[in-house]
Amino acid sequence: MRWLIASAVLVVAIAGLLRWRRPAWYWLTFGVTLATFRVLARYRSVMDACGLTVPPPRWRLAIARMANRPAPEPRAPRILRLRPTRTGLVLRLGLRPGQDAFDVAASCDRLRHSFAMYGVTSREIRSGVVELRMTGYDVLKRVHLPAKTQRTVMRVPVAVREDGAVHYRDYRTTPHALTIGATKSGKSVYQRNLVAELASQHVALVGIDCKQGVELFPLARRFSALADNPDTAAGLLDVLIAHMEGVYQLIRAEQRITADTPDAEIAADIWDLPDHLRPVPIVVLVDEVAELALFATKDEEKRRDRIITALARLAQLGRAAGIYLEICGQRFGSELGKGITMLRAQLSVRTAHRVNDETSANMAFGDIAPDAVLATIQIPVDSPGLAITGDASGGWARIRTPHTSLRTAVNACNKHAHLTPDLPTLAAFRPAVEPPVTLAKIPAPATA
Ligand SMILES: Nc1ncnc2c1ncn2[C@@H]1O[C@H](COP(=O)(O)OP(=O)(O)OP(=O)(O)O)[C@@H](O)[C@H]1O
Ligand SMILES: [Mg+2]
Repeated sequence: MRWLIASAVLVVAIAGLLRWRRPAWYWLTFGVTLATFRVLARYRSVMDACGLTVPPPRWRLAIARMANRPAPEPRAPRILRLRPTRTGLVLRLGLRPGQDAFDVAASCDRLRHSFAMYGVTSREIRSGVVELRMTGYDVLKRVHLPAKTQRTVMRVPVAVREDGAVHYRDYRTTPHALTIGATKSGKSVYQRNLVAELASQHVALVGIDCKQGVELFPLARRFSALADNPDTAAGLLDVLIAHMEGVYQLIRAEQRITADTPDAEIAADIWDLPDHLRPVPIVVLVDEVAELALFATKDEEKRRDRIITALARLAQLGRAAGIYLEICGQRFGSELGKGITMLRAQLSVRTAHRVNDETSANMAFGDIAPDAVLATIQIPVDSPGLAITGDASGGWARIRTPHTSLRTAVNACNKHAHLTPDLPTLAAFRPAVEPPVTLAKIPAPATA
């Protein structure tokens, strides 16, 4: 008996320790089972308490009355599926007549408390079916991407969402993106993550880093072209425009539309071209974009106009030629001069890290998701990397990137350096990588 009590105390102590120090391990060992039982045991009473039940149908009341039986109880949404995941539970519910997805969405916070989960979000799967995604712990505190993710061509995982799902950057669905945030909010780490993920793909990386190249030049072995000042950036963007025009000539030459050409075979972008003809897609990463838009002299003003016009043209026309923009900056509003709002309108994926004022948050979300503005200004100072992401559909989510150190990103780029396409048009901007970047010179990341 004494042994039994001692082992029970030991198990409880281990569970408590894991829950405190390693919530993800606690979830996988104890949490998932306890939470599953808790949700199933409390389901009916919680739904009742949260106002998510409907009265029984009349015919059942009538039958009960005729049979002199007690009136049937109100009915909660049907549980269609309960699936444990790495970070929480996914509960799929079939709504009863008279209920709607908004009722469930409005009760998420109450459900979170009642089921003792860390977070609950809901989304409509189809008419009458709602999915509740519950997380067992704060998945954004210590972010790890799962080993198995659904990477495809030009679609890479970059962050974890607050509901535990993986957040992807999909260039073929949403080609251009804008990332803003105050200084030290995590923009460059987000971009570094992207580079490390894209490194293994068949893609050309082009970088413009006006912070004298401190962020992107260490990753130079995987870059086909790099610019570290506005003058070089202007030349590089002109070459990209010329490249884009060349790709369009190629697509036109391949179209050859005749009456008997099937619709699916008419090429309208690089992805419709046969594999052997398809030009390599290019991702253009711009860090500290405001540096490209600021000027002090007349000459610099001309250069600035040239750069912004080139970026706007790439944003408007680049997608079909396989040129994708990834722009980062602290602010990106009309105060940077003419052409900026036009360029911003083309950047459909918006990600905002912590900002210092509402105006900055408005630059990202004011025109697409006003409630995301509020979520952005609530990001705390002590959580760099935490961000709100949204797209033109109006939906938004809280995400956080894993903390990829510069050393990890350099290793990923060096490992895949042989995949760097040698584009003749960009040869003049190819960074000098001999001798290779010395890892020893990069400070090791501080251990937590
Ligand atoms: N996802 C993350 N998880 C944990 N820490 C992070 C994360 N992202 C960034 N940080 C921390 O925040 C620091 C600043 O990040 P980063 O350099 O990306 O900021 P930034 O927004 O680019 O700043 P600046 O505008 O000054 O260039 C990093 O050195 C790192 O310590
Ligand atoms: Mg930075």
